[in-house]
Amino acid sequence: MTDRYVVIGNPIAHSKSPQIHARFAQQTGEDIAYDRLLAPVDGFDAAVREFVAAGGRGANVTVPFKLDAFALADERSARADAAGAVNTLKFEAGRIIGDNTDGVGLVRDIVAGAGVSVAGKRVLLLGAGGAARGVILPLLAEAPVELTIANRTVAKAEELVAQFAHAALNASRFEDLSGTFDIVINATSASLSAELPPVPASAFAATTFAYDMMYGAQPTVFMQLAARHGAAVRDGLGMLVEQAAEAFFVWRGVRPDTAPVYQWLRAQL
Ligand code: ATR
Repeated sequence: MTDRYVVIGNPIAHSKSPQIHARFAQQTGEDIAYDRLLAPVDGFDAAVREFVAAGGRGANVTVPFKLDAFALADERSARADAAGAVNTLKFEAGRIIGDNTDGVGLVRDIVAGAGVSVAGKRVLLLGAGGAARGVILPLLAEAPVELTIANRTVAKAEELVAQFAHAALNASRFEDLSGTFDIVINATSASLSAELPPVPASAFAATTFAYDMMYGAQPTVFMQLAARHGAAVRDGLGMLVEQAAEAFFVWRGVRPDTAPVYQWLRAQL
C-alpha cells in the first residue's frame, strides 16, 4: 500500500513540496503519495489527527503551524527542541514525533550545494526570529570561529545567545557590527516586503558569501545589495530542497539526490 504524506499550512496552494517529494520518490523508488493539506488557522491539531486516523505516515509543516506542531508532538528531536519549532512530523506506533530539518537544510545547501565551508569562518546571521533560531545549532556544528546574530530588536538576539551559550556566539545591533564577514545569512523576513535589514556595507567584501533564506525568480533585494558590495550570492531555493530531502530521509531512511531536483525547480521559477 502506498504510504501517504502531506504538507500542512495555511495558505498551502503555493507549496512546492509535493513536486519535490514526487521527484524524490521517483528517483528512489519509494512508494509514497504526497499532497497538500490546508488546515484552518485554529484547526491544526484536528487536521493532523484526522490525517493520522486516515493512515497518514508523516507530514511537513509550514507557516503558520510550526509552533503548533512543536506543541502537538509526543516526542521531539534535539534539533527540534533547539529550533523551538517543528517542520517534520512522523507518525509511528500511535505516537507523533516532531523534528526540524530546516537548519540542516540550510547548512547542507551552503556546504554541499554552494561548496562553501563554514569551519573557521566569521559568520553573520541577520534576524533573531524563528528562521534564525532554527539554524543556530547546525551552523555551530560546522565550527565557525564566530557566529554573530544581528537583530533590529537586539534583546531577541541576546536571548538566543543566552539560550545556546556557545563561545563562538554573540549578539549585536546592526549599527555596532564591525569588520567584514566570510558568510552573511539573511534570516529576517524583510525580503518578503522587499525591505532590507540595515546591515552596514562594511560587513561585505569580495570574498563574502551572502545567503538569503528567501528565494524567487529574481535575486532578492538583500542579494542585490550584497552583490553590489562584491559578494557571491545564493538564494534559499536549495535550502527548500535540502530540508525536504532530510524529511524524506527521516521518513524513509533513504537520501535522495538533491542536485537534479534543485535544477528542475530553478528552471520552473
Ligand atoms: P521568522 O519565523 O520568519 O523568523 P519572525 O519570528 O517574525 O519570523 O522574525 C522575523 C525576523 O525578521 C525578526 O528578526 C525581525 O526583527 P525584529 O525582531 O527586530 O522584529 C526581522 N525583520 C523583519 N522585518 C525586518 C526589517 N524590515 N528590517 C530588519 N529586520 C526585520
